[in-house]
Amino acid sequence: MHFCTKDEFPKLEEVKRDHFASLKNHVSHDPELRKRKVIKILEIGVGTGVNFAHYPDGCRLVVVDPNPHFQEYYNNNRKKFPNIHSEDILVAKGDDMHMIEDGSVDAVVITLVLCSVDNIDQILKEVRRVLAPGGKFYFMEHVQEFDLKKYSLRKKLQDFFTWCGLWPFIFDGCCLNRDPMPAIERAGFTKVEVDRYYAPVPNFLFWVEMPNVKGVATK
Ligand SMILES: C[S@@+](CC[C@H](N)C(=O)[O-])C[C@H]1O[C@@H](n2cnc3c(N)ncnc32)[C@H](O)[C@@H]1O
Repeated sequence: MHFCTKDEFPKLEEVKRDHFASLKNHVSHDPELRKRKVIKILEIGVGTGVNFAHYPDGCRLVVVDPNPHFQEYYNNNRKKFPNIHSEDILVAKGDDMHMIEDGSVDAVVITLVLCSVDNIDQILKEVRRVLAPGGKFYFMEHVQEFDLKKYSLRKKLQDFFTWCGLWPFIFDGCCLNRDPMPAIERAGFTKVEVDRYYAPVPNFLFWVEMPNVKGVATK
């Protein structure tokens, strides 16, 4: 993961900048934070910590990841962003975040995580639980090919690499042929905005990960 994410990929950063831009307009549910004009964000599956650059100044950042080996990389990355009050990684799955109180965060962020989790519905239930009313859930995920007329070969390769276990083996359980949107749509958010698009990828190896969804769901 560190090897794949250590160099910034400008085209992808541009997409992220646009996606996360509205975070800075969000007003906290917490009167104390509101007074200071900052918000509390929870990132699930933070990995090495690749989204710091897109978080608003002064925000409180809580992060969860079940893999303890990311801590060293995450801690190195967060040193570069003293403008963000980031906490240590809580080593846990997004499926059970009992250490985070109900309705206590203003925004939840997930990027490239739902492709590898065991129980998407359970994670989304937890996302809704920890969000304050009106809180926002920002997601960005690679998905199975959605234009089968144009890119049926990509869909076949996604199915093959996932079915044979090669892709999940190399990329820690990542499945190329998932679509989290039905689960997000049925998770009980009041509003779901979604954009399907082809993400820029750093090299041809990731051609199979180009179909993406990004969006914001409101509790
Ligand atoms: C492909 S990495 C993405 C990391 C980072 N979010 C990014 O955009 O680069 C997937 C991450 O999801 C984490 N993960 C896997 N299963 C999870 C679960 N059930 N709950 C939370 N995170 C999980 C992995 O440990 C890993 O850090």
